[in-house]
Amino acid sequence: MRHLPNLKSFNSKDIKVILKKAAEIKENPKAFSNVLKDQSMAMIFQKTSTRTRVSFEVAMTELGGHGIYIDWSTSNFVLSGIEYETEYLSRNVSSIMARLLHHSDLEKIISGSKVPVINGCCERYHPCQALTDIMTISEHRELNEAHIVYVGVQNNVSNSLAIVCDKLGIRLTLATPMLEQEEESFEPQVQEIIKLSTYITHTTDVKGAVQSADFVYTDTWIDMQYFNDPTRAKEKNARLDLMMPYQINSTLLKGLSCKIMHDMPIHNGYEITSEMVRDPRSIIFQQAENRLHAQKGLLWWIYREAGVTS
Ligand code: CP
Repeated sequence: MRHLPNLKSFNSKDIKVILKKAAEIKENPKAFSNVLKDQSMAMIFQKTSTRTRVSFEVAMTELGGHGIYIDWSTSNFVLSGIEYETEYLSRNVSSIMARLLHHSDLEKIISGSKVPVINGCCERYHPCQALTDIMTISEHRELNEAHIVYVGVQNNVSNSLAIVCDKLGIRLTLATPMLEQEEESFEPQVQEIIKLSTYITHTTDVKGAVQSADFVYTDTWIDMQYFNDPTRAKEKNARLDLMMPYQINSTLLKGLSCKIMHDMPIHNGYEITSEMVRDPRSIIFQQAENRLHAQKGLLWWIYREAGVTS
């Protein structure tokens, strides 16, 4: 049985098999409509979500199974220990997907679970998003010829992107300010990958970096659970001042033929302008749609690895 806490324990073959299957299912979804017949997934959310919730629930349904939405705050996870609630869950469902504030809680779920556990995004990693991103890029360009320039703040999304690009040998430039150690997304192993990988470079020169980009990718500058929090207003304003030079706008991308990516949700006028969201170069909604197809490839793989399906 394999879990997906992040992509570190996955090798390039695992990732390629998942992506190939995701493309196959996208091409011919009806052929896979019974693959997870009678299987149920518990989908636990401590944080808000649109795409992760919808794509997993629809993926389970379209593969013949069922996804059960569990809001952490109205479940008995808030009263009891993670260990007991997880052990119970894994006697009634055949997989668990969890979007949690802290990776340490995901590790507790993994240790208490008898069924596969998928990280639906935590403060350090967003592996399902990274699989989707690579799937989307592969629909436009050979992966070994692609140059992705990630512009913005280093966070859970860029951490997972760095892990997957290093494993698959995809050229990635992180055009971001330096990540401070006290930031909650700071992950020493990812920082080592960024430093040592022959495929990854870091720069603060965003204008220079985008000149050779095939894909310019951005994400929110403020973690979503803090975006509208009045107690974080001072930090938010300081972050916005620092980040404005990194905004994806028509001036930055003038004359460039790169595709524009964003994992959504979008904060219009911050990390990207509304004009760029709707620009002909934007593949943002294709990328968002691909969450469903990538999730299906991952579910097919994880159930097969657990010996539930063949
Ligand atoms: N990209 C992403 O994870 O979207 P949601 O936060 O809406 O799930």
